[in-house]
Amino acid sequence: MIIVISSRSGGVGKSTTAQHLAAYLAQRRGAGSVALVDADNNETCLDWAERGDGQRFDVVSSDAEGLDEYDHLIIDTAAAPDSEELGEVLEAANLLLIPTTPSMADLSPAIATAQSIEADGTEALFLLTLCPPRPSRLGEQTLQALQDENIPVLSQTITRRNCYLDAISQGLHVGQMKGTSPVKAWEEWKTLGRELFKGRL
Ligand SMILES: Nc1ncnc2c1ncn2[C@@H]1O[C@H](COP(=O)(O)OP(=O)(O)OP(=O)(O)O)[C@@H](O)[C@H]1O
Ligand SMILES: [Mg+2]
Repeated sequence: MIIVISSRSGGVGKSTTAQHLAAYLAQRRGAGSVALVDADNNETCLDWAERGDGQRFDVVSSDAEGLDEYDHLIIDTAAAPDSEELGEVLEAANLLLIPTTPSMADLSPAIATAQSIEADGTEALFLLTLCPPRPSRLGEQTLQALQDENIPVLSQTITRRNCYLDAISQGLHVGQMKGTSPVKAWEEWKTLGRELFKGRL
């Protein structure tokens, strides 16, 4: 399966989503081989992997050879890729995943991206990231608003937590860290992974 993670907005958790989805798939029994493809010139995922001490999946650049030998490709893209760039990447993709924060500043461009992709025939699915922790209900309220508009969105949202900053700087994903906060964070990705891949693997 080829999943492209893209959004017109910067800093909405695209690379973090790519890393955690790749990690989820790689640890899922029987899922097959996984490559996280860094298609962003900033090389966020390549740098992240270099800081760490090895993942159960390969992290490669988009011009790497042998990409078609993997069972799954998770492709991280730059913010606001031009439509030609995105069109090329999406040609082979099964799914476009669009992370967005529950802020109107990110939601509007995200919805515009989804609408332009729908016209091209690739399935697009939203994911709410960086949701403020409780007592805020903004994540849930935004999810409800998207569902009310019949916008396809994963019902598992991802909470904003400080442990991501440590994970990213250490080249880890939150499932590799100890403590209450990373354990809760990894639970969200596992639930999200089960929801996303249900009937798709
Ligand atoms: N759930 C979260 N909780 C806290 N911090 C997060 C979370 N998700 C991402 N971050 C942090 O927010 C910042 C932006 O995340 P990330 O790099 O994944 O976004 P991006 O959309 O790939 O950005 P860019 O557009 O620059 O490529 C990073 O510092 C990351 O560690
Ligand atoms: Mg990024």
